[in-house]
Amino acid sequence: MGAEALLSAVADEVSGCTRCPLHVGRTQTVPGEGNPLSDVLMVGEGPGVREDATGRPFVGPAGQLLDELLQSIGWAREQVFIANVVKCRPPGNRDPEPEEISACRPYLDRQEAALDPAVTVTLGRHSLRRYLPDARIGEVHGRLRRSGGRFVFPMYHPAAALHQSSLRETLFADMRGLPAALLAAREAIAAERTESVQAILPDPAPPAPTAESDDAEQMTLF
Ligand code: URA
Ligand code: SF4
Repeated sequence: MGAEALLSAVADEVSGCTRCPLHVGRTQTVPGEGNPLSDVLMVGEGPGVREDATGRPFVGPAGQLLDELLQSIGWAREQVFIANVVKCRPPGNRDPEPEEISACRPYLDRQEAALDPAVTVTLGRHSLRRYLPDARIGEVHGRLRRSGGRFVFPMYHPAAALHQSSLRETLFADMRGLPAALLAAREAIAAERTESVQAILPDPAPPAPTAESDDAEQMTLF
């Protein structure tokens, strides 16, 4: 199955999911959306009021800021894939509980496996914790990090800048570093693939001299 089919299978399953108590209060599930061929995955926390009402991620005030952030580097949300650590809205916008995050985890795992992103941008601390459990956002934001076999680019949650305006500049500054981080990650991934192919396949033998190249060599002798 291709990424698109895998991602829509996840969305289908999520729509009927009752694996954690968050299913009780939801209006709609918010599985995530975006370009199935993108190699950038952005992971937020969980749906808010507008997301719950529409079934789409990041469409409220935090989403508007995320759109601005993407636009600031010439990207559009249709070029990336946007998901959350929980797919149903925590009541009153409270933080998701650890049990809810772990109940929902297989869906994000499968989305990630389907996309196989070069970079995962974490938005906020719940998303950061999934990849770098001991990292502190104040220390790692805006810098490409490794987590297992993956590259992670931690950012503050856009909603945080709505409450704390000093974070706005930090978010835009970090975003400016994302295109270069993506290129660096792509290059590292390509180099690792080449290395692993070379470990399996022997170096190709040098081409055997042909009659033509013998002639050419002789020509130079005269
Ligand atoms: N905040 C999130 O973390 N995710 C959304 O989808 C919307 C707001
Ligand atoms: Fe299922 Fe996730 Fe919704 Fe909980 S938050 S009901 S695990 S889809």
